[in-house]
Amino acid sequence: MTDQPAPENPEGDEPIKQRKNGLYPAVSDELAENMKSGWADTELRDLRPIPQAQETARRRAELSARFPGERLVIPAGNLKTRSNDTEYAFRASTEYAYLTGDQTQDGVLVLEPAGDGHEATLHLLPRSDRENGEFWLDGMGELWVGRRNSLTEAERLYGMPCADVRELAAALAQATGPVRVVRGHDAGVEAALTDKVTAERDEELRIFVSEQRLVKDAFEIGELQKAVDSTVRGFEDVVKVLDKAEATSERYIEGTFFLRARVEGNDIGYGSICAAGPHATTLHWVRNDGPVRSGELLLLDAGVETHTLYTADVTRTLPVNGRYDELQRKIYDAVYEAQEAGIAAVKPGAKFRDFHDASQRVLAEKLVEWGLVEGPVERVIELGLQRRWTLHGTGHMLGMDVHDCAVARTEAYVDGVLEPGMVLTVEPGLYFQADDLTVPEEYRGIGVRIEDDILVTEDGNRNLSAGLPRTSADVEAWMAGLKG
Ligand code: GLY
Ligand code: MN
Ligand code: MN
Repeated sequence: MTDQPAPENPEGDEPIKQRKNGLYPAVSDELAENMKSGWADTELRDLRPIPQAQETARRRAELSARFPGERLVIPAGNLKTRSNDTEYAFRASTEYAYLTGDQTQDGVLVLEPAGDGHEATLHLLPRSDRENGEFWLDGMGELWVGRRNSLTEAERLYGMPCADVRELAAALAQATGPVRVVRGHDAGVEAALTDKVTAERDEELRIFVSEQRLVKDAFEIGELQKAVDSTVRGFEDVVKVLDKAEATSERYIEGTFFLRARVEGNDIGYGSICAAGPHATTLHWVRNDGPVRSGELLLLDAGVETHTLYTADVTRTLPVNGRYDELQRKIYDAVYEAQEAGIAAVKPGAKFRDFHDASQRVLAEKLVEWGLVEGPVERVIELGLQRRWTLHGTGHMLGMDVHDCAVARTEAYVDGVLEPGMVLTVEPGLYFQADDLTVPEEYRGIGVRIEDDILVTEDGNRNLSAGLPRTSADVEAWMAGLKG
């Protein structure tokens, strides 16, 4: 099905697709008149504010205080065409969703200088006009894409004045005074501002919002816990269908987890890594088109994204047949030990880098002990020799983006200090590539990662993903229980 209605077109033009030059394609007067009326009033008059309305207001107030006297423009983004009249699934920009709680395509938050601070206005597509035919003749008409909130409804939900976004670009182009925009989401809005903004000043705005998100509030922590809890159920789903995955491919695992993500949440927070056998040594294996074999490991790295766009990021490395063999267990237990050391280093006042260093030390010790690299351990760590097999950093901030707060300044994040309310992953791994001639043959093609989502608390940390087992023995018992 396409988005093309098939009304009468007396002019015999090309098929009606969407509004062109502000005009809709011709239809008979009778039909046009008919389509204007006979529709019920569906205005929702008893809407309550969204649960996070107070938090979004506080975030906007922080932003206002940081950029006094400047107009701030934060777009949600637009649909991206996949082909012809088919679009990719839309996901609002993190900055916009964080500051408004809304996720509407084409929406734009504008903070307009007013008095000592700013007045925030949410610019949105309103309900479709039924008088001029937009409702059913326009490709973005509600008949085609679904009902939108009226601007009055949106005001109630989001707690700020709302306006028709179709008038925004012209108004921004006319406006005077300092302005900044979060780039990369809405080319139309950026074009309207092109003579008024600089890349450097705009980047300062993006960095500020990224750093705002480093410490999560109670609402966010609740959402992250929901994301993790759904993810736990998604992992359980996968264990229950491993026989079907063996009969088909890694895709069965991807599809199984996706079902849980779509039913309980908004989506997956990133492409699920369903890596069986030697694919586990490819860090971002998302093709997921390989075989799943008894006797091999399955590295599953996946996370559900909630309806409010918070994502989990969890990895378990499971024996497909339910039992680790001797070497798999040795490697798994080493990664577990490294993760334990990493998690223990997550506490307020610790440096962000500490948990990475703690995990890397354990892994370096194991690699020396197994004779894969020549000691002493200090030399290995100093030269980074363990990294041939540990490959990646041990974790990252987690929130609305899987790699959250990605444009925070180094001093605020990577060189920063942990604070209560931060949520980060601890995810050490060991990966022996199938073609790595420097390790004994039996190691080749084994990859293990264990990843949990850790909240920094006042007195240490809390593992939000403790609902999944982590020790090799607990993983085996859990799998046996699920497989019945
Ligand atoms: N899932 C990507 C990562 O663990 O960072
Ligand atoms: Mn991950
Ligand atoms: Mn991760």
